[in-house]
Amino acid sequence: MTATIAAIANLKGGVGKSTTTLMLADGLAYFYGANVLVVDLDPQASSSQMLLTDRGLQMAFDQGKGVHHLIEQFMANETPNIGNLILPNAVTLEELRKAEERDERMGWISILPSHSQLRLTEMELEEKIYSKGMAPSRLANYIAGHFEKALEPLKSLYDIILIDTPPYMSPVARAGLSIATNYITPTLADSVSIWGSKQFTEWVTAQVTPHLASRNFIVITRFRNTKYARNAEKQLKEVHLKGRTFGPNIPESVQALNAMDRMDLDSYSTLRGKYGRLRNDVKKLSEAFAGFLAKRGGNAPPAMVRD
Ligand SMILES: Nc1ncnc2c1ncn2[C@@H]1O[C@H](COP(=O)(O)OP(=O)(O)O)[C@@H](O)[C@H]1O
Ligand SMILES: [Mg+2]
Repeated sequence: MTATIAAIANLKGGVGKSTTTLMLADGLAYFYGANVLVVDLDPQASSSQMLLTDRGLQMAFDQGKGVHHLIEQFMANETPNIGNLILPNAVTLEELRKAEERDERMGWISILPSHSQLRLTEMELEEKIYSKGMAPSRLANYIAGHFEKALEPLKSLYDIILIDTPPYMSPVARAGLSIATNYITPTLADSVSIWGSKQFTEWVTAQVTPHLASRNFIVITRFRNTKYARNAEKQLKEVHLKGRTFGPNIPESVQALNAMDRMDLDSYSTLRGKYGRLRNDVKKLSEAFAGFLAKRGGNAPPAMVRD
C-alpha cells in the first residue's frame, strides 16, 4: 500500500474545501475501509476543528501536535519527524471506533492538525528566507521536499492523505499542492466562483505542476437546485472546466453544518446520525472520487467494505 496524496484546493474561501475534505475522509474510511490522514495546512484550522472540536484542537496544540512544528523543523534544518505531530484517533464515526475496539483497523481517520500559530511560523520563515533574496516559488520547492521526506514513512500506513489548503497560496500551501498526485477543487455554482475556479485551476497548471491538470476532480458544493445554479453548472462543465472530472453536486443543507459541528471530543456518531439525508451524498462523492483515482493515476481503494 502506498498512499495517494490529494490536495483540496481553491483560492476562493468558503467554497467548501474543509467540508469536502471531511466528507471524503469519512466516506473513504467508512465505505472503503481506507486509512485516511487529513493534513490541515490552513491556519484557520477549520478541518482540525471539525474533527477535533475546539477543546481537542487546544489539547492537540498543548501536547505539541500540529503542522507548525513541521515548519519549525524545516527552519531548524532538521530531518522531519512527523509521527509525534499527528493525532491518530481523530475519527468521529461510531462504526469505525467500534471496529478499532475489535482490532479491525479497517477504515480510520487521523489528523495532522493546524492552528493559528501556523501563520505566525510561516511568516517568520518567509521573513527570514526572503531577506536572503530567495523567491517564494523556490522556498515552496524546498518546503515540498521537506513534506515529501516527512510523509514518505507514512505512505505505507495510509491509503490516502488529504491535504486541506487555505484560500491563499503561501509557500507552505503551494508546497502542499505540489506534492499532491491529484487535487480536488470544490466550487460554488455562481459566476464569481466559476471565474475564481477557472483562474485558480489555470494558475495551478501554469505555475505549480502541469501534470495536475488532468488530475483535477471538481465538486460543486452548496448546490441549490435553481435555474441559475443549473445554468452555472452547465457553464462549468461545458465551458470553463471542460474535460475535468466532476463529482456529484453536494446540496446546500443545514445537515452539512450539523455534520461538521461535533458535540464533544468524546462524542461519536453513526454515519447516518452525522450526515442524515446527506449520507448518500457522502457515499456518492466517495464512489466518484475512488473511480477518479482508479482512472487518473492514484491508488484507488479497491472495493467497498460497508454499505
Ligand atoms: N453542503 C453545504 N450546505 C450548507 N452549508 C455548507 C455546505 N458545505 C459547506 N457549508 C458551509 O459553508 C461554509 C464554508 O465551508 P468550508 O468547508 O469551511 O469552506 P472553505 O474550506 O472552502 O473555506 C461553512 O460555514 C460550512 O459549514
Ligand atoms: Mg477551509
